[in-house]
Amino acid sequence: MPSNSIDSLLHESRRFAPSEAFSAASEASADLYTSAKEDRVEFWADKAREYVHWHKPFTETLDWSTPPFAKWFADGELNVAYNCLDRHVLAGNGDRVAIHWEGEPGDSRSITYAELTAEVKRAANAMAALGVGQGDVVAIYMPLVPEAVIAMLATVRLGAAHSVVFGGFSAESLRSRIDDASAKLVVTADGGWRKGKVFPLKAAVDAALANGESSVTNVLVVKRGDNEVEWTEGRDLWWHDQIEAAEPEHEAQGFPAENPLFVLYTSGTTGKPKGILHTSGGYLTQAAFTHKNVFDLKPETDVYWCTADVGWITGHTYVTYGPLANGATQVLYEGTPDSPNPGRWWEIIQKFGVSIFYTAPTAIRSFMKAGRQIPEQFDLSSIRVLGSVGEPINPEAWIWYRDVIGAGTAPIVDTWWQTETGAIMIAALPGLTTLKPGSAQVPIPGIKIDILGEDGTRVDPPNGGLLVVSEPWPAMLRGIWGDPERFKETYWSKFAQLEGEQYFAGDGAHVDEDGDIWLLGRVDDVMNVSGHRLSTTEIESALVSNPIVAEAAVVGAADEATGQAVVAFVILKSNQEHAQTAAEASALLRQHVAKEIGAIARPREIFIVAELPKTRSGKIMRRLLQDVAEGREIGDTTTLADTTVMQIISDKLN
Ligand code: PRX
Repeated sequence: MPSNSIDSLLHESRRFAPSEAFSAASEASADLYTSAKEDRVEFWADKAREYVHWHKPFTETLDWSTPPFAKWFADGELNVAYNCLDRHVLAGNGDRVAIHWEGEPGDSRSITYAELTAEVKRAANAMAALGVGQGDVVAIYMPLVPEAVIAMLATVRLGAAHSVVFGGFSAESLRSRIDDASAKLVVTADGGWRKGKVFPLKAAVDAALANGESSVTNVLVVKRGDNEVEWTEGRDLWWHDQIEAAEPEHEAQGFPAENPLFVLYTSGTTGKPKGILHTSGGYLTQAAFTHKNVFDLKPETDVYWCTADVGWITGHTYVTYGPLANGATQVLYEGTPDSPNPGRWWEIIQKFGVSIFYTAPTAIRSFMKAGRQIPEQFDLSSIRVLGSVGEPINPEAWIWYRDVIGAGTAPIVDTWWQTETGAIMIAALPGLTTLKPGSAQVPIPGIKIDILGEDGTRVDPPNGGLLVVSEPWPAMLRGIWGDPERFKETYWSKFAQLEGEQYFAGDGAHVDEDGDIWLLGRVDDVMNVSGHRLSTTEIESALVSNPIVAEAAVVGAADEATGQAVVAFVILKSNQEHAQTAAEASALLRQHVAKEIGAIARPREIFIVAELPKTRSGKIMRRLLQDVAEGREIGDTTTLADTTVMQIISDKLN
């Protein structure tokens, strides 16, 4: 089983101390922990001055007078795009490559900081000409091409906020996100490359904006796929035409530290995705600080590659903002890991001499399955730091990653964080920490984490409990877009009985005798599929929106490759039971979920059943369904209203 279970982890005793050479050259030193411990708030003020250029310096560090609404560096002003671009050019690093971009078909572009700055300036002017300014939201629905990053930076350069919607989400998901944030402009592409084919994006934007009033006044379309697109005159504009026509100069203005930077939607325990709001100064400080220290970044010599798409938080913080704020050279790759050949990623590492590589356990496990003979065909000797994110990494995958990709020597930093936390919260610092495979280990300097029991008492090692962040942090979410009550309720109410605010992350964890933290997965109805967050209730809603479905229950079942997989149990409406076979109904419904939410949410399996296990109060007992989905013996059924239900379900499925 790929996800971590306490039993297997407690027996994990391998330890890997940093090499002397690595420690000697380490960016981070132990006094980071000491100074953060002495004065946590002052520590962050120092980091904000060290990592960020302020148009107007701040004099207040943290305002926590109205929790859970934090303000960091509130009277300071900055321009986030200036921090990621102009200041590097002004410091004489304009010729340094910012992005080595590789398209899936093999086309490639290297863009220097000077060139990236020039393109963002033009894009900002083009967007301003379309009326975008502070207070507006720009939706970005793109393949992983440089223009996706350029559009993000152009938006924030104007003081507007972006809402990036992952290109794999459906038109329906895009529509709800555009509407929720009242986006004014959409930036998209005709199509992008994936698995050797062009997938259309503009068509989904058209569908999302069809029928009904929309806040969107224009759609900017990047030419990438060269596929045919429909055109709405007056609304749709080609990106390249607008950029060419735009003025080249654009002076970056300072905006308040708490100016909204972006909204990013993520799945929660209820049906509707939440728009997580991040602001500027605190977010950029923690993004840059963690990127430098957790990955031991040396901007002059390293080539960094984070494989995330900018549609996810990892792509926001560790593709766009962290690396560019630090003046790093990075790789951006449009396609899938195995197109057009199973060694595509390793070929890219060899081509660009990637030295820091950051990816998800699910990818590592699938490479592991394909065999070490594939990466062994490539020269990966440039690698010196490896990172993992998105889900617990099982020790076998950890060891394989270090041995096969990291030549048996590269430190692995397992980074725990969330869309909501904005930046890394728990991770080893590679020059300082003795690594333990499977553990994310220690809070980064300046972050306070606790593991609590249900009753709010701190758990003693080696027991498990619930992970909370017990002090505000600079990159913390500032709220849920348009819904302050839901923000309080979701994250801050679980331990309301305790003195002091506790941010409840939704994860289980245990802490060992050394104080190292081992993540155990979600404790709520959120699934983690290939490192992506999906909500059981959101998929259930999608299923019952189909006219043939009477009732549906979804569980995340352990899966060798993807960590968890979506498994659904569906009761058909009585007039449908004989209209099609179970196989037909299940194929139709898998497709329906992909259309409603996106292909990532498509269930691995759908079981058509006659009953669902419910308690006397009508609550579906997902735990029992999970037993079925994972092929285990069914657990305790005594609390079911009808104890024969599970027998009926398993008889039908066997
Ligand atoms: O359950 C945790 C898991 O991913 C969740 C956050 O998902 P998302 O907001 O999509 O962000 C993913 C990328 C930061 C967490 O609540 N998770 C993330 N990183 C780890 C992890 N679980 C264990 N170990 C990790 N390193």
